[in-house]
This record gives sequence, C-alpha cells and structure tokens, in this order.
Amino acid sequence: MAQNMTDKSRVLIFDTTLRDGEQSPGATMTHDEKLEIAMLLDEMGVDIIEAGFPIASEGDFEAVSEIARRSKNSVICGLSRANYKDIDRCFEAVKHAARPRIHTFIGTSPLHRGITDLDQDQMVARIHDTVTHARNLCEDVQWSAMDAIRTERDYLCRVVETAIKAGATTINIPDTVGYTLPQESADIIAMLLEKVPGADEVIFATHCHNDLGMATANALAAVSAGARQIECTINGLGERAGNTALEEVVMAIKVRKDLMPYQTGIDTTKIMHLSRRVSQVSGFPVQYNKAIVGKNAFLHESGIHQDGVLKNVETFEIMKPADIGITETNIAMGKHSGRAALRSKLKELGFDLADNQLNDVFVRFKALADRKKEIFDEDLIALMTDQVANTDHDYLQVKWLRVVCGSDGQEAELKMLVDGEEKTAKCSGDGPVDAVFRCVKSIYPSKARLKLYQVQAVTAGTDAQATVIVRLEEEGRIASGSAADTDTILASAKAYVGALNRLRVRSQKTAPDADVKTVSYKL
Ligand code: KIV
Ligand code: ZN
Repeated sequence: MAQNMTDKSRVLIFDTTLRDGEQSPGATMTHDEKLEIAMLLDEMGVDIIEAGFPIASEGDFEAVSEIARRSKNSVICGLSRANYKDIDRCFEAVKHAARPRIHTFIGTSPLHRGITDLDQDQMVARIHDTVTHARNLCEDVQWSAMDAIRTERDYLCRVVETAIKAGATTINIPDTVGYTLPQESADIIAMLLEKVPGADEVIFATHCHNDLGMATANALAAVSAGARQIECTINGLGERAGNTALEEVVMAIKVRKDLMPYQTGIDTTKIMHLSRRVSQVSGFPVQYNKAIVGKNAFLHESGIHQDGVLKNVETFEIMKPADIGITETNIAMGKHSGRAALRSKLKELGFDLADNQLNDVFVRFKALADRKKEIFDEDLIALMTDQVANTDHDYLQVKWLRVVCGSDGQEAELKMLVDGEEKTAKCSGDGPVDAVFRCVKSIYPSKARLKLYQVQAVTAGTDAQATVIVRLEEEGRIASGSAADTDTILASAKAYVGALNRLRVRSQKTAPDADVKTVSYKL
C-alpha cells in the first residue's frame, strides 16, 4: 500500500487496542479476550490490527500468532523495537497472516535519543539497518519515529527519508505524549510530504495520544494534510489519557463528508458492540458523556430537546443510534423465554453464538431468570461479559461461597480452584466483602493491593444484577477483573479473583513497556 494508492480519498484505519490500548495500566486482556476482540475488529473492517508486542512475553507472542492465523480480512501487525531480535520475533508471530506487517520504532526526539545513547548519525544508521532487516523478512513494513512531534524538523525529515530508502512502506508520525495541536499536526505531515524524497511512495500515518484532549482533532487535521492512516483504539483506550478513539474519527469522517471528503472501510453498525466488549474485557468503564459510545450520547433529558427530537430527530441528533449499532428495543425477557428468543436477542445485541456456546449461555440465562423477574438487554450484556471474563479454564476459580453478615459480625467461607486443586478458607472481616477478600488471600497469598472496588447496578430494582470491577496492583503491575451477579458479594469474589488471574498474566510479560526503552539489545 503506498501513499499514491489509487483511491486518494481512502483513509486506512489501524487499530491498536490490543497493543497500545492494552499497555494502559490495568487493561490486561486474556488470550481468549484478545482473540475475540481481534475477530470483531476484523469483521468490522479495520484495515490493520496491531495485535501486540510479540517479544514482550510468550503470551503476547501466542496471541499475535493466533490472531494472524485466524484473521480473514485485516493486515496483522506486531510491534518491535529497533533491534534484530525484536524484529525476528515479531515476524515469527505475524508471518501466519495472509497479510503480515512488521512495525518497528525508535524514539527520535532529543529526549528519546538521550535514553538510547545514540547520536544523530548512529540513530540514522540504526534505522537504516533495522528497517532493511525487517524489509528482508516482510514486504509490509511500518516505521515509527516515536515522539516525532518533539523531534527537530530537519532531523525528522532525515530519519523519515532513511526509513523510506530502507524500504518502509508506511511512515508513522506519533504524537507520543499528546503535545501537539491540530494546526501543527497538519503542518508536520504537509512538510514531510513536500520535503522528503520518496514521500509520495509511502503511506503517512498519524498516531495521537490524548493528553490535551486533542487526539481526535489532531488525527483529523493530519488526514486533511495528507496522512492516509489513522492509528486509534476502541473507546480511546491507551496509556495515560489514551489514544485517538476509533469511533470518533470514523464517525467524524462519516458525518462531516462535506469537510472530510474521505472514506474508511468501517462498518459503523459494529461500533457499539465493540465498545462494550472492550470496556468489559479491559475493565475500563466508558464515561457516560463519552462522544459516540457513552451511555448518554443519544439521550435527551431536557424538555426542549425531547420535544425537538420527537418532532424532527435531526433537531438535536447529528447521527442515528442505529448508525453505530444501537438497536435495543428493551423488551424484557423472562423465565419463559426459549432458546430461539435468546439467540435472536443476543444476535441483535451483537453476540452471534455457535450452538454449544448458546447452550452454556442458556443455562446461565435460566439461572438468572429464576432470581430476576425481568431480564433486560443490559442484563444479557452483563451475563455475556461474565461468561467470557470468568471461565472454567482460569487458573483461579470461585466455586462456592457462603457469607454470614449482620449486626453480629461478618464471616465468609469460600471454596476455590487453584490450578485445578480445590482449596477452602473461612475468615471474618470488616464487612462481608472484606471477609471474602481475606478468604481469597488465605487461599492464594499475594502482595496485590486493592486500587479500585466499584459496584454498579446493571438495571433498576432490588433484584438487579450488580457489575463489580476490582483493580489490583502488584510490583507496579496493574490488572482489573469484573463480574456480574444478582449477589453483589459473589460478584465481588469473582471480580477479585479475575483481577488476580490477569495480574498473573501480566507478570509473565518480560519486556519493558514499548514507550520507555527503545534499544535494549545489540544488533
Ligand atoms: O505513542 C507512540 O509513540 C507509540 C509508538 C510505539 C508507535 O505507541
Ligand atoms: Zn502510542
């Protein structure tokens, strides 16, 4: 794919939810969750999926390899630092894809050069060698100038030219620290296109972080100046204030065709389902007033707005809920609803299940229907989330729980599986949740500290399910777990155990985060 691709109005969407998004503290996803998200991105029409950082851990490597094997449409890309070992490992993982891509990067700004201990000329040589090496392995090579925005302009032109000459097919210009503003974002792309020899032979990409709340605006400005690949994540997930939100740039291009005469290949009706799934598996709730996918994004509270919308929906709505896949009718299901009704309702909500999956969900649905009179869309979404978040394959599993609480004190008795072995504990505590967490700690001792404990009612009513989110921290690593149940204490136990499972996955990552060290191995 080159900058001079035939359709100049086509903007490629590069999704990095599974790499930059997952790098966000606490957003660790399991292997199965990554696979599920990747398949949804592939079906939605994402052009390139950055599936992970293969050298970071065995788990990342496995996830990238399997996504590469399974994806049908998207280019599958892996990240690597500027050294041969990273690049080789990356190619080993992505080579299974029909269309693999190696993404290699180095920090080019004075601050980043400082931590690599390379002077300007040495860095140019390093870029030449690593991009050439990557290109010898793979036809599709993306090179990124990390912290490009704070790189001296002349030097930026020089490194970009070096990468193009060495064979890079996509050049990414990241605003790594979310520092730029729209005009500057556009000017840099325009300058590179004008000054760098060979610039019209490659695709320029924009990769913006949201530290000043500018990521969407900066990405769109870069496109107006000639960039043809936007790097983004679902819900804007990512380090610190996150990355450009996919749903925002895609809908901005769709809604403002008059000012943004471009197209993406995204089926926007799949956005809402992906947003919910990413929020659920990452444990990062979407803020209520988040653009496009927030709970309130299509709600009209004030009388004037409601009246206007009823008379003509366009008075206060610039897009339709159905454009992003909101089709809920919110007709309740109950214990008399059958398998076929459940299947069709779940399909409407974006969950297309195979027969064996439906059987499992149906059992859980019936159990919920016994405890809760009416089951709404939100209940089903919570049930599906729980089904994926806490599975029978997990290292730690909650098997049984009994809690006694009241004015005489609180005591919990818990049975868990630890790597398949049954263990029990009985503890009292300062409240029922504390008693349960003490049981978990006594069965599976760890140094993890509780950073967040959040309970949200899924729907109204005293029989409502609660979604519990637990975030834990251990030796600088953060992981979240979530669970849903009509019993808040049971959901708390499962969420706590889910976070411990993810912490375990996170501790298996060996390489430092991509944004910190760029050169840790000799060529
Ligand atoms: O923000 C950044 O610079 C990155 C690079 C690794 C592309 O994520
Ligand atoms: Zn980034």
